[in-house]
Amino acid sequence: MISVQGVTREYGAGAARHVALGDVSLQINRGEFVSIMGSSGSGKTTLLNVMGGLDTEWKGTVEIAGQSIRTLADPALSRLRNRSIGFIFQHFHLLEHMTCLENVTLPSYFGGAAGVDVVARATGVLERVGLGGKLQASPSALSGGQKQRVAIARALFNQPEIMLCDEPTGSLDRATGLTILELFRELNEAEELTVVVVTHEEYVSRMARRIIRIEDGQIVSDEPNIPTPAEAT
Ligand SMILES: Nc1ncnc2c1ncn2[C@@H]1O[C@H](COP(=O)(O)OP(=O)(O)OP(=O)(O)O)[C@@H](O)[C@H]1O
Ligand SMILES: [Mg+2]
Repeated sequence: MISVQGVTREYGAGAARHVALGDVSLQINRGEFVSIMGSSGSGKTTLLNVMGGLDTEWKGTVEIAGQSIRTLADPALSRLRNRSIGFIFQHFHLLEHMTCLENVTLPSYFGGAAGVDVVARATGVLERVGLGGKLQASPSALSGGQKQRVAIARALFNQPEIMLCDEPTGSLDRATGLTILELFRELNEAEELTVVVVTHEEYVSRMARRIIRIEDGQIVSDEPNIPTPAEAT
């Protein structure tokens, strides 16, 4: 579903040159729930941006949904991204002068929603994340956890195959963060949504089924996550 092979990403040049990813390879398959875990500056965001086709300034090979993105021109890459991938960030990126419903319909303006009842679909995904009662609310009137649910609904609007999340609980307290991770787990199990969560927090990574650890731009381990008895439910 997403394949990264021998990817190197450098920033800067000369004395300022920094290798953010050094010859990294990994594959994420349909239906997986993966965390990418590492300390600040280890290269997590860089890797996620490479995997999602947001960054194209690397050496190596990246395939999204079976397509090598090296050969794609900008509009084709944007289409592939819009169709296949939902992005979630730490700071929600909602438009506060619009209602929750309007925020969730935003992806329809970037194509892929021809013939779709946009309001019905947006209402459906907001109900799916537990916010059916907040359709006309302003995001500014919501809690942090609710704001992240609106962002998740917006990411679900185009019915992506994979959700790429960069520190999705980074602005939330731990209890609220866990409810967001439970929602990802539910979407992963019930709807086979592939989920990748970048984090620097152990408790966040423990919610995933596979944990990839990254240090200084290198993958140092990639293992299934076996829940401890206390975590198993
Ligand atoms: N635009 C840029 N220009 C120069 N260096 C960059 C740039 N973006 C990232 N870097 C460097 O690349 C390395 C990896 O950065 P990255 O943002 O991927 O780390 P991260 O693991 O996401 O960190 P954090 O947990 O703090 O978000 C860091 O050393 C960072 O300083
Ligand atoms: Mg980061």
